[in-house]
Amino acid sequence: MTRGPMTRPPRPAAATGSTGSTGSTGSTGSTGSTGSTTTLDVRGLRVTLPGTARPVLDGIDLTVGSGETVALVGESGSGKTLTSRSALGLLPPGATTEGTVLVEGHDVLAMNADRLRVLRTDTVAMIFQDPRAALNPLRRIGDFLTESVCSARTGDRAMGRATATARAVELLDAVGLDDTALKKYPSQVSGGMLQRVMIAAALMGDPALLLADEPTTALDVTTQAEVIALLARLRERFGTGLLFVTHDLDLAAAISDRVYVMYAGRIVETGPAETLFACPRHPYTAALLASTPRLTTPGGRLAAIPGQPPDLRTTVPGCAFAARCPLATEVCDEHTPAPLQVSEGPVHLAACHHSDRLIGEGSAVDA
Ligand SMILES: Nc1ncnc2c1ncn2[C@@H]1O[C@H](COP(=O)(O)OP(=O)(O)OP(=O)(O)O)[C@@H](O)[C@H]1O
Ligand code: SF4
Ligand SMILES: [Mg+2]
Repeated sequence: MTRGPMTRPPRPAAATGSTGSTGSTGSTGSTGSTGSTTTLDVRGLRVTLPGTARPVLDGIDLTVGSGETVALVGESGSGKTLTSRSALGLLPPGATTEGTVLVEGHDVLAMNADRLRVLRTDTVAMIFQDPRAALNPLRRIGDFLTESVCSARTGDRAMGRATATARAVELLDAVGLDDTALKKYPSQVSGGMLQRVMIAAALMGDPALLLADEPTTALDVTTQAEVIALLARLRERFGTGLLFVTHDLDLAAAISDRVYVMYAGRIVETGPAETLFACPRHPYTAALLASTPRLTTPGGRLAAIPGQPPDLRTTVPGCAFAARCPLATEVCDEHTPAPLQVSEGPVHLAACHHSDRLIGEGSAVDA
C-alpha cells in the first residue's frame, strides 16, 4: 500500500518486534516529558570509553515526548552529542553501556545491526551541524533525498522512486524550496538552503524523533532564525519529537518546551524552559545564564565561568562542578548530589546540595 507523503505510517515490524523491547509506548517517563507519548526515554544511561577514569555519560535520564521540543544544553565536552547519538545506537567503538535507551518503547542498545538500520531509516533521523560535510558533492540533491527510502528499505517498506520523488517535492515545499532543487548539486545552493535540504531529508522517513545537533551553528544569524522557525513549524505539522542540542541558552529558551542542562556527563538540571531560565536552581545553569550576552543589559559585565570541567582521565568523588562553584562547601567535595525536585508544579530537578540558596536569585549567581 502506498501511503500519502505527509502521513505517519504504522511503525515497521522490524522496528517493533520483541527483541530488545523493554518498555511500553506511552509511558510519561520519569523526567517530565509533556508529549502525549514518550518517543525517547533514556534511563540511567552510563557510557564508559576505553582509557577514561570515569564514565563519559554518567546516569543520564532524559525523555522527549511526541511533538515535544527538548533542548540539551551545556559546555563543550559535557556529553550532548553522545547523548543524542545514543538514540541512534551510534556510540564510539569500544564503548561499554549500562541503562536503557528506549525509542518508542524499544531498547536501541539491545538492537542488532539490522534493527538499527531500520531504526535509522524509519524512526529516528539526525540533522547535523555542517550540511556540506554530510552530503556527497557528486550526488544531486534529488538522489540524496530519495535514496534513503528507496534503497535502504526492503520488502513492503520499500518506497517506489515515483512516490519517493513526490514526497521529496512535498517536503522541499514544506521547507520553502521548489522542485528545481532536486536537479542541483550541493555546491549550487547556499548553506541555508542546504540545511533546509537536510531537514527535508531527515523527514523523508517520517521519523518519530528528530535529533538536531547544533543545526544552525554553521549558518548566518538570519538563516539561523529561519531554520529554527521552520523546525518549530514542522514539529507541529508532523508531530515529531525534537531533541535540540545547542550551546545557545537563548535559543534553547525560545524553541523548547523543556530543557536539560548537562555538565561533565550528567544532567545537572532539568525543567520547563520558562521556569528553568527564570529561576535556575543549579549554580551551573545560573552561571551559564550569567555568561550569556543579553540585549537587555547592554554594556553589562558578562561573568565567564572560571576554570575547566574535570578531565575524563580523573575521577571526581563529589560534585563535578565543585572546583568552579561559588556556592561549594565541604559536602560538595565529598558527596555527589542526586537530582531532586526543586519547585512546585511540573518536574524541575536540580542536582545540587545547595539549590535552595538560589531561590530568588534568578541568574544572578556570579561564578
Ligand atoms: N569517539 C570518542 N572517543 C573518545 N572520546 C570521545 C569520543 N566522542 C566523544 N568523546 C569524549 O566524550 C566527551 C563528550 O563528548 P560530546 O561530543 O558528547 O560533547 P558535546 O557536549 O557534544 O561537546 P561539543 O559542544 O563540543 O559538541 C568529550 O570529553 C569527548 O572528548
Ligand atoms: S553541589 Fe555544591 S559544588 Fe555542586 S553545584 Fe551545588 S553548591 Fe555547587
Ligand atoms: Mg557536540
